[in-house]
Amino acid sequence: MPKLGSGELTVLDDVRDLARHTAAWLVETIAQAGDHAIAICLSGGTTPRALYALLAQAQYATALPWPRIHWFWGDERFVPPSDERNNASMARHLLLNGAPIPCENIHPIPTMSATPALAADEYEHELKDFYGGDRIASERPLFDVTFLGVGDDGHTASLFRGSPLLEERSRWVAAVPEHKPEPRITLTYPALASSRNVVFLVAGAAKRPVLAKIAQRGCDLPAARVRPVGKLHWFVDRAAAPSASP
Ligand code: 6PG
Repeated sequence: MPKLGSGELTVLDDVRDLARHTAAWLVETIAQAGDHAIAICLSGGTTPRALYALLAQAQYATALPWPRIHWFWGDERFVPPSDERNNASMARHLLLNGAPIPCENIHPIPTMSATPALAADEYEHELKDFYGGDRIASERPLFDVTFLGVGDDGHTASLFRGSPLLEERSRWVAAVPEHKPEPRITLTYPALASSRNVVFLVAGAAKRPVLAKIAQRGCDLPAARVRPVGKLHWFVDRAAAPSASP
């Protein structure tokens, strides 16, 4: 299996093929996950949109145990749900609103809290409440699947180069109040890494340079520093794949 950094690399023809491959992988992975409550952590950005729209298609209506899945987010823009930049609203519109999911299974990062810091505290409490404890055990990951993207600058979720949050080892959720044009809320590495599967979804020629950096040994870009307790997957389209990729 080709590698990208410390993860396994799968190269797909284009973003639609990437969505199809990821959907099939998700169905197979969840089918093998046992009958516990499933926790999926979604990413924002544009790349996962094709995946979310595909999973909303009738062909997936019985392919996943929808009522048993809980949906979380790896980061959020601190804007109202009505704002088109809101990651949770994007996923609700493309996928969750049409699926047979109990509303209590959808756990958006709150963005109507008084401050980003209070929103981060509230979400950390919600994650700990779902997990059933406030200390993550490596043998009992928080998530079954964590989807992430990569920015052109190598950020992931809302973990950006030079941020002190890259060294955060106790908080699960933190505010990024200084981010422009809007403050962000992000899960930190301890929470993002507490996953049976972390899946980076990357598409487009603009991402080829940053993936080439991440492929280099010792790369310390934020996206290169995600070390899941489980498996690390890179599902990448041909336009973004580092040139040596098959
Ligand atoms: C966000 C995402 C962010 C995103 C990357 C890639 O809220 O924007 O969490 O980390 O995944 O910036 O975004 P694209 O998929 O749009 O390239």
